[in-house]
Amino acid sequence: RHQWQGVIEEYRDFLDIAADSRAVTLGEGGTPLIHAEQLSERTGAEVWVKYEGMNPTGSFKDRGMTMAISKALAYGAKAVICASTGNTSASAAAYATKAGLTCAVLVPAGKIAVGKMSQAVAHGAELLEVDGNFDDCLTLCRKLSEAYPVHLVNSVNPDRIEGQKTASFEIVDALGDAPDIHVLPVGNAGNITAYWKGYREYAAAGLATGTPRMWGFQAAGAAPLVKGHPVDDPETVATAIRIGNPASWDQAIAARDESGGVIKAVTDEEILAAHRLLSSTEGIFVEPGSAASIAGLLQQAEAGEIPAGARIVCTVTGHGLKDPQWALHTADGSNLTPTRVPVDAVSAARELGLEDA
Ligand code: F0G
Repeated sequence: RHQWQGVIEEYRDFLDIAADSRAVTLGEGGTPLIHAEQLSERTGAEVWVKYEGMNPTGSFKDRGMTMAISKALAYGAKAVICASTGNTSASAAAYATKAGLTCAVLVPAGKIAVGKMSQAVAHGAELLEVDGNFDDCLTLCRKLSEAYPVHLVNSVNPDRIEGQKTASFEIVDALGDAPDIHVLPVGNAGNITAYWKGYREYAAAGLATGTPRMWGFQAAGAAPLVKGHPVDDPETVATAIRIGNPASWDQAIAARDESGGVIKAVTDEEILAAHRLLSSTEGIFVEPGSAASIAGLLQQAEAGEIPAGARIVCTVTGHGLKDPQWALHTADGSNLTPTRVPVDAVSAARELGLEDA
């Protein structure tokens, strides 16, 4: 049986990397594309979920990071740096370690999920908490990478986009053609840029008959692309996409317009409801930021915007274990406490509502 080699070896012919260049890989990509029966039923469409939480560090960032770190080695870099809402830093730290590079990460103080913070620390990154938001962290990182010998691995680095586009290839390979619509969360807008590039390249190579409409969703409190201007104080429970001035702004707008798509906003309530729905009806656990795509899908269905029978792929970008606390909140915000029982089958059966056989 074929052992998945990571996205560089699997798609080397489609990637901008020298044939003899070493691939720094943790086996990223090859993630599940799951048929979502409940979402299909609800929306009258054929809905698939691309579960990117199944990457080695638990998010889609690994696809871009295998490329960015492999090429950093080829460029002769000794150190890399990134700004992050958490997932990029987790991924950069892991791949830099694998490559023997040092890694510095700048994160917004108090605004990254504990799982992501743990990963950066576990992989030995130099971590700075910045008194500011993600956009401030990225500005700082750009300055540092210009003034010091440290290589920037945010998605403003084209190598990141190059790796991330492989998710589109996998989807077309799995479905036999491009879907009609592709739905994804949008933060710094690297991923929508990458997917759109991947879909166009596969179609140009004759491997798909067309390209999907790109539907991007931002959190309502952090929706600069929807508003048409940067947001100074982005706020959302979905800390992954708490971004006010996306670096790939123009590319996101181009992906929307060239594909005949939309970029819209979903509220935190819609995000958390979609998060709950996905875990409780489809068996897929994601972090809140990832649920923005599902929230967007449901919002579009509600608005009658989904053509009957359309084939739709929703990317869910990060694993639920990154930021697990949200599952333990009820809809009204209170915490769930499990019922406690003694070591006694009768009491346990009563609490579980089991009837006598
Ligand atoms: N979903 C998750 C879980 C993310 O971590 C991010 C971005 C996005 C969606 C949005 O993707 O930025 O390409 O539009 N996280 C970055 C980070 C900003 O630092 O981890 P995007």
